[in-house]
Amino acid sequence: MFGKKKDVPQIDKEQLELIKNAQHRIKQKKRLYAHFVLFLIGAVFLIILNIAIGVGEGVTFFGKDWFVFAILAWLFLFIYHLFNVFVTHKFMGKDWEQQQLDKLVAKQKERIAQLEKTVVKEQPIMTKTPPVEEKKTKISTGLTLIVAAGENDAIGKDNQLIWHLSDDLKRFKTLTSGHCIIMGRKTFESFPKPLPNRKHIVITRQNDYKVPEGVIVVNTLEDALDASRHDQQPFVIGGGEIYAQAIKYAHKIELTRVHESFDADTFFPKVDSNIWKETSKIVHPKDDEHAYSFSFITYERK
Ligand SMILES: NC(=O)c1ccc[n+]([C@@H]2O[C@H](COP(=O)([O-])OP(=O)(O)OC[C@H]3O[C@@H](n4cnc5c(N)ncnc54)[C@H](OP(=O)(O)O)[C@@H]3O)[C@@H](O)[C@H]2O)c1
Repeated sequence: MFGKKKDVPQIDKEQLELIKNAQHRIKQKKRLYAHFVLFLIGAVFLIILNIAIGVGEGVTFFGKDWFVFAILAWLFLFIYHLFNVFVTHKFMGKDWEQQQLDKLVAKQKERIAQLEKTVVKEQPIMTKTPPVEEKKTKISTGLTLIVAAGENDAIGKDNQLIWHLSDDLKRFKTLTSGHCIIMGRKTFESFPKPLPNRKHIVITRQNDYKVPEGVIVVNTLEDALDASRHDQQPFVIGGGEIYAQAIKYAHKIELTRVHESFDADTFFPKVDSNIWKETSKIVHPKDDEHAYSFSFITYERK
């Protein structure tokens, strides 16, 4: 439809090189031959100049006429030319240099290819996309979720806690003091002010979220985990959205199970017994200061 492609004669690149080289050599030899003829004529001319015409008659060096030295000097030049054509240009000319260079480059390429093959064989993993594990954010191995939840996993309503359990708050303070506490923006806003002696890391999608001095703001949970990676036991302190996302990264859960079901709008995710094993449980009865009985339960990842 768009016309037939013309047949272009295909001449091997190597053959072209050989032809070029041969032409070059012929030129060199022709020039040498011309030099030789010129030398013969020149020598005869110098002899005639001195003997027949008498130019420089009587000029001698070491008892020989000057033309003998002139012819010898020219002969030396001719021999040098001869040497160049048959030795230097043949073995060490530019073509020879280029050939050596090409050979060297080819050898280096071969060696690099071999090395690459060896590396691929020895470390196949390096050529593949790093597994998901490697791409993960660096997380402290002590990452702990701390939460108080009802029997129905209720944890809050209208951005507030549903109960007031002073011993639970004391335990929360004891466990989290001196550590990083990671929280969602809503939980942070449920505090009247930042909690003392703890590094607050607040997660929000807002870019210009204003916080008091010392509070760290990040835009993703992963950044929050990264910011707390040097803490041996950073705590995720809520709320519902953040617990749901962070539970997969956690190694421990400090759960205060409040033995009652509550009307709530925020919940803690189910603690899957296939993943978590209970390692400690302390029951706290209901009393004058605590409207509900509750248990401090520690879960560790199996
Ligand atoms: N019982 C307990 O132990 C306990 C503990 C803590 C909290 N609570 C309760 O839980 C409730 C609050 O929990 P909640 O689930 O409503 O809110 P939350 O988890 O505290 O915060 C949610 C906010 O976090 C930010 N966020 C969430 N995921 C994010 C992500 N992947 N990347 C960036 N930002 C993200 C968003 O902030 P922006 O909207 O600013 O983008 C989102 O609106 C309250 O009732 C509180 O009292 C209970």
